[in-house]
Amino acid sequence: MIKVQGLVKRFGGVAVLDGIDLAIEQGEIIVVIGPSGTGKSTLLRCLNFLERPDAGYLTIGDLAVDVTKASRADILEARRRTAFVFQNYALFANKTALENIAEGLIVVNRWPKEKAHARAREILERIGLTDKADAYPASLSGGQQQRVGIGRAMAAQAEVILFDEPTSSLDPEWVEEVLALMKQLAQERQTMLVVTHEMGFARDVADRVIFMEGGRIVEQGPPSRLFGDPQDPRTRDFLRKVLANQVSLDAT
Ligand SMILES: Nc1ncnc2c1ncn2[C@@H]1O[C@H](COP(=O)(O)OP(=O)(O)OP(=O)(O)O)[C@@H](O)[C@H]1O
Ligand SMILES: [Mg+2]
Repeated sequence: MIKVQGLVKRFGGVAVLDGIDLAIEQGEIIVVIGPSGTGKSTLLRCLNFLERPDAGYLTIGDLAVDVTKASRADILEARRRTAFVFQNYALFANKTALENIAEGLIVVNRWPKEKAHARAREILERIGLTDKADAYPASLSGGQQQRVGIGRAMAAQAEVILFDEPTSSLDPEWVEEVLALMKQLAQERQTMLVVTHEMGFARDVADRVIFMEGGRIVEQGPPSRLFGDPQDPRTRDFLRKVLANQVSLDAT
C-alpha cells in the first residue's frame, strides 16, 4: 500500500502541491485528471523523488519516510518501488528495445546481464514486441516505443507504476495499442497511478478518479460517480470543457 500525507512542493514560493493526502491500495487503478498547471506531474515526480518535496510523509510498502529527512538510501528505495512511464518515452536511443528493458535491472537491481536479458525477453513477449528485441527506438513507431517504456516499468516489478500522460505525444493511430497494454496491466491488478486526458480509459478502467486543481485534490470517487454526478463546481466545469473538446474532436 502507498500513503501520501500532507505532501507539499513549492516552486519559487508558490505551493504547486498544497497538502496532498492520498492512500492507494495494492492493485488499485487510479486516474488523475485536472487542468494544466495543477500539479499532476509534480505529484507523480515527487512520489519518485524526481522532485524533492518540501513537506510530507510518504509510505511505500514498508518504506516510510518524512520527505524532508529522506536519505539517499531512502530515495533510491522509493525509486525502486515506483516505476515511471514518461510522456516522451525517455528511452536510450543507443540501446535496443531489449537493452532498454534490461538496463534498469542491471544498473538498479544489479542483476547479471544474462538474467536481466532473460527477464527482458519475457517482458517483450508480454508487450507483444518479441520480434523487435534488437530494434533501436528510432526504428520503432511511437506506439511501440511507448510499449517499450511500459515494458521497462513492468520489468522493475515496482509497487506502483506512475504514468504521466503516456499517450499524449502519440499520433492518434498509436493511442489504442498503448491503452490496450495499460488495460492488460490493470486486469493483472498492477497498481497504477495514471495522469491522462483519456476519459474513456478512466471510465472503463479506473477504480477511482481524482480531480486536482491548484495543487489540491478537489474531489475523488469511482468514475461513474465522478463523471455522472460531480459535486464540486470546479469538477463540473472541467469535465464540461474536456468532454466538449472530445465531442468536437470526434465530430471532425
Ligand atoms: N521545475 C519547475 N520549476 C518551476 N516551476 C515548475 C517546475 N515544474 C513545474 N512547475 C510549475 O508547477 C505548476 C504545476 O506543474 P505540473 O507540471 O505539475 O502541472 P500539470 O498538472 O502536470 O500540468 P499539465 O496538464 O500541463 O501537464 C506549474 O505552474 C508549473 O509551471
Ligand atoms: Mg503534467
